[in-house]
Parts: sequence; C-alpha cells; structure tokens
Amino acid sequence: MFGNFPLAGKLVAVTGGIGLAFCKLAVSSGARVIIADLKLNQESEQLVHGNNNVSFYKCNVANWKDLEALVPYAESQFSDVPDMYAANAGVGESIRHVGRNLAHPIKLSRIALRALWSRDKKGVVVVTSSVAGLHGHFSTPLYCTSKHGTIGLIKSLARAETEANVKVVGVCPG
Ligand SMILES: NC(=O)c1ccc[n+]([C@@H]2O[C@H](COP(=O)([O-])OP(=O)(O)OC[C@H]3O[C@@H](n4cnc5c(N)ncnc54)[C@H](O)[C@@H]3O)[C@@H](O)[C@H]2O)c1
Repeated sequence: MFGNFPLAGKLVAVTGGIGLAFCKLAVSSGARVIIADLKLNQESEQLVHGNNNVSFYKCNVANWKDLEALVPYAESQFSDVPDMYAANAGVGESIRHVGRNLAHPIKLSRIALRALWSRDKKGVVVVTSSVAGLHGHFSTPLYCTSKHGTIGLIKSLARAETEANVKVVGVCPG
C-alpha cells in the first residue's frame, strides 16, 4: 500500500473549480501542473502566466474527446503522462450535470489507469465527491445522486492500488 506520494517533480492534471487551490499547492510543492478547464479565470490566469511548469488545457469534461486528448497533451507539453489526476469539475442540479459530475470521473479514472499502465508508473487519482455523496438532500436529488455515484466509483477502484499501483482516493468537501 502506498500513502507517501510527494508531489515534487510529479506531473499533475486537474479539472476545474476548487481544483485551483490544489493546483497552487501542487506548484508550491514543486509539481508541474495541467489545468484542464473550459476557461481560465483571473486567478488561474495568474498561476499560468510566465510559469513554464503550469499549462492550461482547454477541456470540456463532458466531451469524451477532450478528456482522451488530455494525456497526448501532457506528452506534447511535458514529454510524460501525468502521475496524478484530479477529477474535480462538477456542479449543478440537472440531468445534464449528472452526466458531467459522474461520467467525467469514471472516464478520467480509466484514462489515468491506461496512461499509467502504459508507462509502468505508480500514480494517484483524486475524485472530488461531496458530503452530498454521503447524505441525500430533498432539494438537490440529482447532484446527490451523481455524488453518491462517485463514492461507488472510488470504493470500487480501491483495489487498483494493489492490482495496478494506482491509488484512487476521494474527497468530500461541504
Ligand atoms: N464549493 C463547494 O462548497 C463544494 C462542496 C462540495 C463539493 N464540491 C465539489 O467540488 C468540485 C468543485 O466545485 P467548485 O465549487 O469549485 O465549482 P466552481 O463552480 O467554483 O468551479 C467549477 C469549475 O469547473 C469548471 N467547469 C465547469 N464545467 C466544466 C466542464 N464541462 N469542463 C471543464 N471544466 C468545467 C468551471 O470553469 C470552473 O472553473 C465539484 O466537483 C463540486 O461538486 C464543492
């Protein structure tokens, strides 16, 4: 079992949102970072600007082709596949968002496993779930459903740690 995964020198790919805080932490730890988002905001733009270790990859996580192209993008920019993948983008209370909140971590985990296996690398996948993944709320049933789904994904992929040297973990903000 591995728990010690220092980020120094690692390549990290993060999709959206709260992910910016993680990107900053990763950069300050000496990692190279790919921000995969629809767009940069003022704060994330500052992180990317003039820093060769941070790269913006324009990506709609609801689009399978965009996600598939993340690894080739990493290879073209940093000559490597990411060591760590954070499936973070996700909000909303509509059927469309259920797909985005749940399908994107499923797809990104598969992409991560394939990329890491192909290089025989040890890696980490972090899925941002929510307290809404642990408890139901009458006012946001679709968001809760999607986040409950991510908990099932994280639990199901736990064995990847021993089977494939890929540790899949979740965080539940809220
Ligand atoms: N903020 C909270 O209080 C809270 C609580 C619990 C869980 N979460 C979870 O944390 C994660 C981030 O939430 P947040 O509050 O930071 O969100 P946010 O709304 O602040 O940011 C969302 C980010 O995702 C990007 N994004 C949206 N749709 C996208 C798409 N289709 N493709 C690529 N990028 C896209 C946006 O551009 C933005 O940068 C989500 O998974 C959310 O469910 C947040």
